[in-house]
Amino acid sequence: MKVMVVGFGGREHTLCWKLSQSSKIKRLYAAPGNAGTEAIAQNVEIEPAWAYIPSLGDFAASEGIDLTVVGPEAPLAEGIVDHFNQRGLRIFGPDKKAAQLESSKVFAKEFMTVQGIPTARYKVFDGYQAALGYLEEVEMPVVIKADGLAQGKGVFVCQEKEEAREALKKTLVERCFGQAGCRVIIEECLMGEEASFLAFTDGKTFISMASSQDHKRVYDGDRGPNTGGMGAYSPAPIVTQEIQDRIEEEILGPTIEGLSTRDCRFTGVIYLGLMITEDGPKLLEYNVRFGDPETQVILPRLKTDLLLVLEACLEGRLSEIDLEWDKRATICVVLASGGYPGDYEKGKEVWGLDKVAQSKDVIVFHAGTIQRDDQILTNGGRVLGITAYGHRLGEAAIRAYEAIEKINFEGCHFRKDIGYKALNRGVR
Ligand code: AMP
Ligand code: GLY
Repeated sequence: MKVMVVGFGGREHTLCWKLSQSSKIKRLYAAPGNAGTEAIAQNVEIEPAWAYIPSLGDFAASEGIDLTVVGPEAPLAEGIVDHFNQRGLRIFGPDKKAAQLESSKVFAKEFMTVQGIPTARYKVFDGYQAALGYLEEVEMPVVIKADGLAQGKGVFVCQEKEEAREALKKTLVERCFGQAGCRVIIEECLMGEEASFLAFTDGKTFISMASSQDHKRVYDGDRGPNTGGMGAYSPAPIVTQEIQDRIEEEILGPTIEGLSTRDCRFTGVIYLGLMITEDGPKLLEYNVRFGDPETQVILPRLKTDLLLVLEACLEGRLSEIDLEWDKRATICVVLASGGYPGDYEKGKEVWGLDKVAQSKDVIVFHAGTIQRDDQILTNGGRVLGITAYGHRLGEAAIRAYEAIEKINFEGCHFRKDIGYKALNRGVR
């Protein structure tokens, strides 16, 4: 079989790494990929730009690709799955209508309400004055969210009214997020600990993956601005068996049911961004794809052949599949470029990868990297994700940080406390 993975981040390198272990796959492509995928797949130079989706379709058709797997949200929101399906090309992911669960927060909240899924109370506004007026009625803190995709920057957790007014002005008046900020949600701020929970679905049923938790803020102790994710670990001890049962019954079940009654085609991965509150799990957001960097800790624990799972989803027979998990814990620490998540320079040489290549129970996943002759250069904000296994989380953390000591590039920074919430709970 020929399989193509769309995207160029750490998640996509991990997908290629896992798929490359499948004996049924004879050729693997990454479009456009990075220096990590280049070592195990053929990188295809189709960059996100004008006519991106038709170009990917043309390539899949001419090359005889049997299956395309989409990493990022943008092509899903733009309808890559609809385009491929119209051309009779096999693709794993939700159609454009289903992808609205991620591409429109208003759509997602209305969906949750109709399906009776536990979530924060909210109201939608498209006018600045009306939104300001509502702020006077509600108790602080509140969360303000731009409706559309804003690369994780469109959410403001506001402790004070002044901060909330500022967020509304940025979104509705200054239009900092363009069309994505035409409407905003003002919602109740939930208290608790966050967790990520991913499941495969064939549109009729679902099968849960191992739980995980990511670290969105750039600095230790969850301080500083939000990033794409500075690290993750799996499993997340906050997701006990009892919590998992509630997530499946109160959130995943009604989600799959709601999608089928709305005639949405969803063969892919549903990602729940959860707050585990005193009253149980509540849904903050949906993503309609694998998480990044959650994938870098989940797939290394999956013992089952990923291709078999993806094919079962596409053929509507997911109920026949059992997932087998490695009992060990995994942790992933992201190494980022100096300045990230703000401006940063590219093209810095990455040193020491050869020293880590031999380390037992450590995998280096590339994100923003590029191969130039025999050098590997930085090419993005998040550069590498160092994943390590351990019989316990603490052991995995020690192993990941030992490996990181051997790697360097100018300006490299990373969080020193990945996994700390679980470790503080006494999980060693
Ligand atoms: P979202 O993109 O909706 O997941 O929001 C990004 C981040 O904002 C989440 O990971 C949370 O840390 C925070 N957040 C979003 N909604 C809420 C909420 N209702 N209560 C508390 N924190 C929230
Ligand atoms: N880790 C957050 C995301 O993938 O959106």
